[in-house]
Amino acid sequence: MKTYSYPRSQEIFRRASKVIPSGIYGHLGPSQGCFIPVQAYPFFAERAKGAYFWDVDGNRFIDYMCAYGPNVLGYNDPDVDEAVSKQMAIGNCTTLPTTKMIELAELLVDTVASADWAFFAKNGGDVTSFALMTARAATNRPKVILFQGGYHGVAPWAQKLGYPGITAADTENNIYVHWNNYEEIEAAVRDNPGQIACLMATPYHHPIFEDNQLPAEGFWAKVRKLCTDNGIVLAIDDVRCGFRLDNRGSDYYYGFKADLICFCKALANGWNVSALCGTDSLKEAASAVMYTGSYWLSSAPFAAAIATVAKLRELDGAKLMLAQGKKLTEGLQEIGRAYGFDLRISGEPSMWFMRIANDDNLLLHQEWIAECVLRGAFFTNHHNLFINCAISDEDIKQTFVIAEDAFRTVKERHPEIL
Ligand SMILES: Cc1ncc(COP(=O)(O)O)c(C=O)c1O
Repeated sequence: MKTYSYPRSQEIFRRASKVIPSGIYGHLGPSQGCFIPVQAYPFFAERAKGAYFWDVDGNRFIDYMCAYGPNVLGYNDPDVDEAVSKQMAIGNCTTLPTTKMIELAELLVDTVASADWAFFAKNGGDVTSFALMTARAATNRPKVILFQGGYHGVAPWAQKLGYPGITAADTENNIYVHWNNYEEIEAAVRDNPGQIACLMATPYHHPIFEDNQLPAEGFWAKVRKLCTDNGIVLAIDDVRCGFRLDNRGSDYYYGFKADLICFCKALANGWNVSALCGTDSLKEAASAVMYTGSYWLSSAPFAAAIATVAKLRELDGAKLMLAQGKKLTEGLQEIGRAYGFDLRISGEPSMWFMRIANDDNLLLHQEWIAECVLRGAFFTNHHNLFINCAISDEDIKQTFVIAEDAFRTVKERHPEIL
C-alpha cells in the first residue's frame, strides 16, 4: 500500500516556528500533541468534508480525531453551515445579543435531562471554571474534589502544580482522588467538613496514556447521594463525551442527575460556543458570578449549535456513533489478533481508547498507529479517539484495509516479538 509524505507540512511548520511559540501550540501541535513519531504526521490541514480532511500535501485522511471532538456531524455539515450563513447575513457580533441565544438555551433545556437553564461561553475551560465559581458562590466554600488524570482545561486551577506558570496558590483548593474509589471520596468529604463546594468529574474516566475506565456499578449513585447529603455541587464535565453517549447528557446515560453539566466540543459541530447547564437551585448563584467575554454573545455560533443539536436529535447521533464505534473497534481487534497483536479497547465505542499491549513500552503501538496514519487513517497514539456521524461503513472497511496493512508491516519488522 502506498504511504504518504509531508514535505509541504514540514516546510510550513518551519515557517510557523519562526513567528509562533512552538509552531503549533497545544494539543494540535507536534510538541504537546500525541504525534509520535512526528515524521508520520502532517501538521497542517487544507480542507475538510464529512469524515475526511486533506493536508497541505494533498493527502486525504479518514479522521478519527474529529478536531479532538468538535466534528460530530461531519465537517462542513450543510445544515449547520446554512444556519450560520443565514445568521451571518443579518448579524453576528452585535452590541446586544439576539434571540438566537434564548432559542439555544430553550433547546438545551428541552434536550438535556438535568438542565433548567443554560449559560454560554466559548471554550470548554470557560465553562468548567464557571461551574466551579458557581459552586463556590452557591456554597460559600473553597474546595473542589477532582480525579487524578482528569482534564478540565488550562485555567490555572485545572493545571498541575509544577507545570510552568502554575503557583501553589492556584491549586491549593484541589483535592485529588482516584477514579471509581468511592471510599477515598467519602474520606475526602469527611476530612474537610463544610469546605467542599464541588465534585467535578468527567462521566467516565478518559485520561491520556491510560486505558479509559467506565464508572463501576453503583459508583455514580453513591457519589450523587454523598454530594446531596453534604451540600456539594456535582458538576459533570461533558466537554468531551457530550452528545456522543446520549443527547440528554452523559449523566442521563449513566443513570444519575448532575447539578451542573459542561458542554463544548460537539455542541456546534466546530463553531465556537460552549455551555454550562444547571438546575434551578443554582440559577441564582450562576447569575451572581461575574463572567463574560468579548465574543460570548455572538449569534452565528448559537445558530450553529441550534442546527447541530437539532440534527443530532433527529439522527439519534449518539446511538449511531456508538454503533459505528463498536463495529470499528471490534473489527480492528479481530484483524490485530490474526497478526498476533493484542489490541486493547477501553472507554465507550464512540470515543474509545486503544493500545497494543504486546510490549510494555508502547513502541509497537506507536509504530502501528504511525503506519495507519501514513496510509490515511488519522489516529493519535495516547489520546482517546472519536467517531462522527459521517463515518460510513465504507470508511470503516477502508480503515480495516489500512489497519491490516499496518499490522502486517509492523509484524514483519518485529519477528522477534510477534
Ligand atoms: C473533559 C474536558 N474538559 C475540558 C476541556 C477544555 O476544553 P477547551 O480546550 O475547549 O477549553 C477539554 C478539552 O479537551 C476536555 O476534554
